[in-house]
Amino acid sequence: MPPAYILGIESSCDETAAAVVRSGEQLISNVVASQIATHQPFGGVVPELASREHLRAIVPVVRQALAEAKHTYHSIDAIAVTQGPGLAGALLVGISFAKALAFALEKPLIAVNHLEGHIHAVLLEERQKGNHELQFPVLALVVSGGHTHLYLASQKDDSWSYENIGHTRDDAAGEAFDKVAKLLGLGYPGGPVIDRLAAHGDPKAVKFPPAQIKHPDRRGRNHGEAVETGDVRPRFDFSYSGIKTAILRYVDAHNMRAAIEARRQALMNIAKPALEDYLANCDKLTLDLVASFQRAIVDDLVGKTLTAARAHEVATLFVTGGVAANRELRQTFEREAAKQGLPVYFPSRRLSTDNAAMIAAAAYPKFLLKDFAPMDFSAEAGLALR
Ligand code: KG4
Ligand code: ZN
Repeated sequence: MPPAYILGIESSCDETAAAVVRSGEQLISNVVASQIATHQPFGGVVPELASREHLRAIVPVVRQALAEAKHTYHSIDAIAVTQGPGLAGALLVGISFAKALAFALEKPLIAVNHLEGHIHAVLLEERQKGNHELQFPVLALVVSGGHTHLYLASQKDDSWSYENIGHTRDDAAGEAFDKVAKLLGLGYPGGPVIDRLAAHGDPKAVKFPPAQIKHPDRRGRNHGEAVETGDVRPRFDFSYSGIKTAILRYVDAHNMRAAIEARRQALMNIAKPALEDYLANCDKLTLDLVASFQRAIVDDLVGKTLTAARAHEVATLFVTGGVAANRELRQTFEREAAKQGLPVYFPSRRLSTDNAAMIAAAAYPKFLLKDFAPMDFSAEAGLALR
């Protein structure tokens, strides 16, 4: 089998990304243009602005990825693009560009699910390290700003399939990090800031009640689950809106509002705040709250994932998506999974957050199967992974 060079394009949220990957196992180039500065003043991603930024960035980002890979439009073998889930207007920018390229170059076009991409980020890097011995079944926790999903992943020849055995009923874990950071005047995105600040607080200072899920799931159909068939197997769902409300109450009960506003102003006046700037603007109460919040989220993610791993007798764990960059999450998974004798794999931090290398890697098995996208395929904001 000759090597296949796939150009990946990703534009589902707030990063415009392009990459070249060889045969799903060797990262050749990986370019990510982040829109953080655009969305920062709004404390979250503004969809309309995201689409415009993608339009501005897509051509230079793709050109740079090809140039860094020492490739041209003509020397690549296929083009892969994220179909969904994500922001419809943002996805359409990548899809329209990928379609035009495929049409003009007469190259195959491959549509990739963003969540499958996050899972294949792990596979790409393990193959690159020479690890071809992963044991199945695999349980993958995909945890990011938009998603908190547990998938059983299986592979038959080159064909991959996924079963969703848990998802968040409300906020995604990364969304909780972002909302709590905003609430505490720490800016956007919240995950990386809380990650660094948590080490300076006492994670046992504030107790949060564990998330309770009382109602049957009405959103299951959107996630590709067997709702109609009355599937009664145990589920491993998450819920993170309660902890956000608990923090809001804590802030009011401890009269923290004035200090939060002062911090917001102070940090806004610093172009790129460093850890020292954050620390200089945080009292012990805030640091303890941040550390306790992170510990609660980490314990919940690790606890549910390991319970699911035992229930389904999986052989291997993957933890991927933006929140997988979190240091405490990685350490806790490594420690707790080791106690169960379970190997756990993460992408490197740069392939944990959104990128196009994962899209090009996930496209490779589809390239081998000639599973190409028709020219009339479109963005699917709520695309399920199966
Ligand atoms: O995968 P990603 O880049 O985009 C989505 O598909 O959502 O994930 C972005 C999310 C944001 O919510 C961000 O706050 C979170 O990942 N994140 C982190 C860390 N780095 C990024 N959360 C916790 N700790 C981190 N170090
Ligand atoms: Zn993502």
